[in-house]
Amino acid sequence: MRDFVLLYINGREHRLRGVEALQPLSDFLRLGLNQCGTKVVCAEGDCGACSVMIGRSEAGRSQLTYVPVNSCIQFVYQLDLAHIVTVEGLKVDAELNEVQRAMVDCNGAQCGYCTPGFVVALCGAANQLCSASKGGGQAAGANRLSEKQVKDSLTGNLCRCTGYEAIIKAGMDFDLKKFQPFSALYEEKPIIAAFNAQAVEPVLIEADGRKVFLPATIDSAVDFLKKSPDATIVSGGTDISVNINKRGLAPQTIMSLCNLSGLDQINESDAGGRKTVTVGARVSLSRLERYFEKIVPEFYKVLWVYGSPQIRQAGTLAGNIGNGSPIADSLPFLFAVDASIEVTGSGGSRVIPMQSFYTGYKKMAMKKGEMITRIIIPLPTSDELLRLYKVTRRQHLDISTFTAAIVVKTKSDKITYARVVLGGVGPVVLRLTKVEDFLIGKIDKIETYKEAGRLARQEIEPLDDVRGSRAFRLQLAENIFQKYYFDVHDIKEKVLTGGHS
Ligand SMILES: Cc1cc2nc3c(=O)[nH]c(=O)nc-3n(C[C@H](O)[C@H](O)[C@H](O)COP(=O)(O)OP(=O)(O)OC[C@H]3O[C@@H](n4cnc5c(N)ncnc54)[C@H](O)[C@@H]3O)c2cc1C
Ligand code: FES
Ligand code: FES
Repeated sequence: MRDFVLLYINGREHRLRGVEALQPLSDFLRLGLNQCGTKVVCAEGDCGACSVMIGRSEAGRSQLTYVPVNSCIQFVYQLDLAHIVTVEGLKVDAELNEVQRAMVDCNGAQCGYCTPGFVVALCGAANQLCSASKGGGQAAGANRLSEKQVKDSLTGNLCRCTGYEAIIKAGMDFDLKKFQPFSALYEEKPIIAAFNAQAVEPVLIEADGRKVFLPATIDSAVDFLKKSPDATIVSGGTDISVNINKRGLAPQTIMSLCNLSGLDQINESDAGGRKTVTVGARVSLSRLERYFEKIVPEFYKVLWVYGSPQIRQAGTLAGNIGNGSPIADSLPFLFAVDASIEVTGSGGSRVIPMQSFYTGYKKMAMKKGEMITRIIIPLPTSDELLRLYKVTRRQHLDISTFTAAIVVKTKSDKITYARVVLGGVGPVVLRLTKVEDFLIGKIDKIETYKEAGRLARQEIEPLDDVRGSRAFRLQLAENIFQKYYFDVHDIKEKVLTGGHS
């Protein structure tokens, strides 16, 4: 059993034991290494000032794969076997790199506090495209990041003084061909060899009465949970770490899944003529976003506005389910397609249908000593018209006020199948079975959906909170049915001109 976390920072090896391994990475960088280029503003994943790149070794790849994360909500123990590149590690031959130069030339900084985060995020986007182009990927031939690529990579970074125009201009200003990818800045071979040599060994860190375990296999994870059924499971940590930093959560025993192998796959199968996708508990939301883009664009749209790139690279679907919030963005889709959750404990694995997974506010049918291992998702068929909705006050990086999933099937203008799921209208995500029963057999016309909306108001009990009043949520629940009708019949223009009845 290893008693230290092995990581590299800007090419230098660190072996961290005891309390050093139990702190947020941003604290270790700033206080432990005096590398204060990485800034901390919110300490809850919301602003991107603390962004760093983390590179991990992936099976079958000779290079590390780098993704941006928020170092304030990534604890050191989660970064075992990772190479971290901070803003201090981006220079090329002691000179500013292309992105840094562009930020200076385009006046992309005023107070400068957010600047390291923006620079890291832009370097991450450039690095990804350079790595892809080496493999003949999407960036082959492209000289600059497009406006969309720049904006997409910066949705997790906030600036309070420069204004975004100059920063976006900087992002589009530099020549990708001159950008040095991280694999050119750092000798990766010895890092990968060091990681591979340690990968199969579990890690146990103990300090100050606290314990963190990093299993390498599902069996050792389950064994640990049997002995420590109250252990807090940390997957991406994007929920847990915020609770630790901001809400006084102080788990004594943690099991981090960062090194767990066997749960990082997305598999497809055909069950009863329906394509089904099985998602391992370690699959990141970013991977899921890429996977669903073509096969279920509706779910992709939800994932695209889910947090920020930094959150989606760390966070997982399993964590969203395990958090169990009634406004968790993935849940309406999972309910609507009758997904199920595989949980595993010392007695083996069992599958719980999504419909019976939640038993109350953040209460689950999972027993102590069990963990989520896979999510089984039947995909909608082409005649099932699925629409997903997320209502927030801004498009990106905002917590939902209200969510919805509606699926309808029709035959000769009659509704033959309906599935209606709403989030943010009660203590759990709710399936509105009375509304579904009402819809089945009715004519597929606007009046039907108006009536369904009125009925929906009676089936939910929303609360008032900072994100929206009860009255607002009731109105959203009523209106969403009309929006669904307009969307699936693609009649935006008639609505705008008042021509639709
Ligand atoms: C800035 C920011 C923006 C966010 N934006 C969104 C958003 O747009 N939409 C949204 O829905 N959420 C959002 N979140 C919340 C969070 O990112 C998601 O819930 C994410 O899916 C959590 O995944 P994780 O792997 O990081 O979970 P963790 O933090 O690791 O875990 C979350 C919970 O699940 C449990 N858990 C994790 N894995 C397992 C497992 N395998 N078995 C059993 N229990 C497990 C943990 O014990 C914990 O209770 C945001 C969070 C932040 C900080
Ligand atoms: S300090 Fe704001 S995201 Fe980390
Ligand atoms: S330059 Fe001041 S916050 Fe962005």
